Amino acid sequence: MVVTYASEKEIEKAVTVLRQGGLVAIPTETVYGLAADANNPKAVKKIFHIKNRPLSHPVIVHIADISQLKEWATDISDEALQLAKHYWPGPLTLILKKTKQVSDIITGGQDTVGLRIPNHPLTQCVLKKLGSGVAAPSANRFGRISPTTADAVREELGNKVDYILDGGQCAIGVESTIVDASTDQLRILRPGMISAEHIEKLLNRTLTSDKKNHPRVSGNLKSHYAPQTKMILMDQEETLYLKKINREIKKSAIAIMTRKKINVPQSNIIYFSMPDDPELYAHDLYQTLREIDRHAFHTIFVEEIPDDPAWDAIRDRLKKASGQGSLIKI
Ligand code: TXA
Ligand code: MG
Repeated sequence: MVVTYASEKEIEKAVTVLRQGGLVAIPTETVYGLAADANNPKAVKKIFHIKNRPLSHPVIVHIADISQLKEWATDISDEALQLAKHYWPGPLTLILKKTKQVSDIITGGQDTVGLRIPNHPLTQCVLKKLGSGVAAPSANRFGRISPTTADAVREELGNKVDYILDGGQCAIGVESTIVDASTDQLRILRPGMISAEHIEKLLNRTLTSDKKNHPRVSGNLKSHYAPQTKMILMDQEETLYLKKINREIKKSAIAIMTRKKINVPQSNIIYFSMPDDPELYAHDLYQTLREIDRHAFHTIFVEEIPDDPAWDAIRDRLKKASGQGSLIKI
């Protein structure tokens, strides 16, 4: 996306709304965020109200430049800095010890703050002009699918948001990888398209993915990122697959998200073809679930995805979207 004269005006509008304490939906490379000036606790509080999000779930502060990091975070380890320098701007959120500047409304009263530099030209311009950070969770109602287009933001939040900055479809399509770098024990709190493996190679050490039910990571709730339609994850074995589908459908229409065509001769089954590549799959995932939700399907069946670390973020979102702790065997 290029910043044109038209988008300059939109950027200006977004900055003005943020300065006045309003809420702006901002495009990022992962998903759209619902942003408020991070130095305005009253404005940040509105985000929780609009999203129907419990106050105990902290939000990420988005900044323009690594030089701003020390305004928001303190006790930054060499490894945390190395991650920031390597991946920012990009889909990595670092949890770090917070400075006094960060209000409790952002952190849910914790002594840590989530930070990232998003990689989207319009939002980078907004952040630079604002000269400060914005607090922004994903721009969806709590527990629902994150929006990856401006239209999806409208669908989620309608006129509750003061301004929507349309930056096109998000390039990545699922939320950032969250790494807790507030202690020496680096941990992945939420998988994203930057894999644990990639980080481990970069730092030449192993990470722990043991979340120990970290209650403050809302994406950790068993049912999250969820479509309205009931969703079932399928085992790849076709015979079981067919048996389950036949049992389930009776006469109602069902959707199947599959990476290959499966020959089930039933008129009430609609296939949604998904890419075989994890990056392309991630890009399409939330858009496809939204499209399916617009129809009155009885159930969405999702074909199991490869058991490979490159699919970790997608597996995590699919499990949560189906409200299942793990992939079911049927
Ligand atoms: O890609 C993304 O991360 C998107 C875009 C908009 O940047 N944002 C996003 O925000 O997904 P949200 O609020 O939907 O998810 C942020 C997650 C939440 O699960 C929250 O609990 C966790 O980050 N989080 C934020 N601050 C934290 C902290 N201090 N400690 C632990 N978890 C934190
Ligand atoms: Mg979210």
